[in-house]
Amino acid sequence: MRKTYYIITIGCQMNVSDSERVAAYLEFYGFKYEPNRYQAGLVVLNTCGIRQKAEDRNYGLIPDIRKKNPRVKIVLTGCLALRQDVQKRLADVVDIFLPINNLPNLYRELKIKDVPSRGGVARAARDGEGLSLVDAKDDKNDYLDISPKVNSKFSVYIPIGNGCDNFCSYCVVPYARGREIYRSAGAVIVEAIKFIKAGYKEIVLVAQNVNSYKSIISKQDLKYFPKLKIGEEIDFPKLLSAAAKLSGDFWIRFFTSHPKNMSDELIAVMKRNKKICQQIHLPVQAGDDQILAAMNRKYTAKHYLELVKKIRSAMPEVGISSDIIVGFPGETKKQFANTEKLMRQVGYDMVYLARFSSRPGTAAVKLKDNVTPQEKQRREEALNKILSKTACADNQRFLNKEIRVLVEEKNKRGEWLGKNEQFVTVKIFGAADKKLLGSFVNVKITEAKDFGLSGKLS
Ligand code: SAH
Ligand code: SF4
Ligand code: F3S
Repeated sequence: MRKTYYIITIGCQMNVSDSERVAAYLEFYGFKYEPNRYQAGLVVLNTCGIRQKAEDRNYGLIPDIRKKNPRVKIVLTGCLALRQDVQKRLADVVDIFLPINNLPNLYRELKIKDVPSRGGVARAARDGEGLSLVDAKDDKNDYLDISPKVNSKFSVYIPIGNGCDNFCSYCVVPYARGREIYRSAGAVIVEAIKFIKAGYKEIVLVAQNVNSYKSIISKQDLKYFPKLKIGEEIDFPKLLSAAAKLSGDFWIRFFTSHPKNMSDELIAVMKRNKKICQQIHLPVQAGDDQILAAMNRKYTAKHYLELVKKIRSAMPEVGISSDIIVGFPGETKKQFANTEKLMRQVGYDMVYLARFSSRPGTAAVKLKDNVTPQEKQRREEALNKILSKTACADNQRFLNKEIRVLVEEKNKRGEWLGKNEQFVTVKIFGAADKKLLGSFVNVKITEAKDFGLSGKLS
C-alpha cells in the first residue's frame, strides 16, 4: 500500500476534530498527506448520518473513489461505521469499518508492523507533559487523547467528551457514538495550554452535551485544580472556569449546551470570565410542549424562555443561537405556530433549521413521517423569515461600536472576514493589504445586516 492518505469529513465539529486526530495518527505511522483523493493509498471517509441527505453523500463518494483509484484502501469511520445495514451495503467497496474510538488500533487493521514504542497515549496526557502521539498500543483506547493535527493556525476544537445519553427520539447520535464518556479535566487543560502556547487565539470546547460533563479528579489532575480533592467530581462550569483562567491572549467558546442541563453556575462563570465569549448555542428544537415531549427533550417552552431571560439579564450582550427541526411526525400547523411564537420571543442571532428526517434505530422511526416535504419547506422558510428579522434587529446593537474580531479568512474580493465574540460574521473594510489572518483586531461597525456586520479597522 502507498503510505499516503486523504481524509473526507462530513458532519459536525466533532467529526472535524476527529479527522484531525486521524491525520495525526496516520502521520505518526509514516503516512504523508496526498492532496488528490484519486492518488492516495488510503482514503478515510469520516461519515455523518444525522439526516438522510448527509448519509446519502457518503454513498455517492465511495464508488467514485474506488473507480478512479482502484488500488486505494478505504476506511469508513464516524457515525455510520457501526450501522449493520451500512456495513452490508458497502462491504464490497470499503476495506475497514472503524468505530472512531477504536482509532488507536487502526495500525493493526492496516497491518503496520514497525510500531514505535514509547509508552501510552493516555499516559503522556496525564503526566502533564503536553499531549503527544506516542505508541498507540495502549489498551485504554483513549482516542480523544491523541494530539490532533489541526488545520487552522489560530482556532482549535478541543473535545471534552464523546457520545450522548439523552436519546432524543429523532436522533441517531446516541447509537452512532455510544454513551457519554468524558476526558479527564487535566487532559483538557493540558491540551488547551499546549495550543495557547503555540499561539492559538480561539479554544472551542466541544461535546454533544458539554454541560453534562463530569469527571473525577485524580492525582494527575490536581496540578491544574489545586482547590479540588482527589475523588471529587468536577463539572463543566468548573472546567470552563479553569480554562478561562489560563494566561495568554485567547478566547473560549463551547458547543453544545442542552437546555435541561443549563445551570445558574454556568451562567455565572460565563458572566465572570472575560475570556469566555458571550455566546451560547442552546438548541430548542421546537416551541410546542407536546412536540418537545414527543422529542424527549425533557423541558417545556416556558422553561426555555425563562432560561433565555436569565442568560440575557446576566449578560445583556450575549448572542444566542439554536437548532430547530420542522415537520416532526404529527406536528400540526397549530403546534408549528408555537415554534414561530417562541422564535419571535427569543429573537435569535442564528438558528440552524432542519427538516425532520426519519432515522433508522431511533424511537421516532416508528412514527409516521406525515408532514409533506412541501409543508416542511414552507415551515422552514417561515422560520427563516423570522430569523432574518430578529438577527437584523439584534445586530443593530453593534452599530457605531468598536468591537473585537478574530480574523478568519480573506474572501475572493480581498476583504478580511472574522467573527466577534457573539459569533456574528464581520467584514473589515480598508485593510486588504494588511496581514490580519488569525489575529484579534478592533473594528468600528458601520453597517449591521441580518447575517453580518461590516466596519473599519480601528
Ligand atoms: N447535541 C446537540 C445536537 C446534535 S445533532 C443537541 O442536543 O442540541 C445537530 C442537530 O441536528 C440537532 O440539534 C437537530 O436539530 C438536528 N437533527 C438531529 N436529528 C435530526 C433528524 N432526525 N432530522 C432532522 N434534524 C435532526
Ligand atoms: Fe442527539 Fe439529543 Fe443527544 Fe443532541 S442531546 S446528540 S439531539 S440525542
Ligand atoms: Fe453527524 Fe455524527 Fe455529528 S451523525 S452531526 S457527525 S455526531
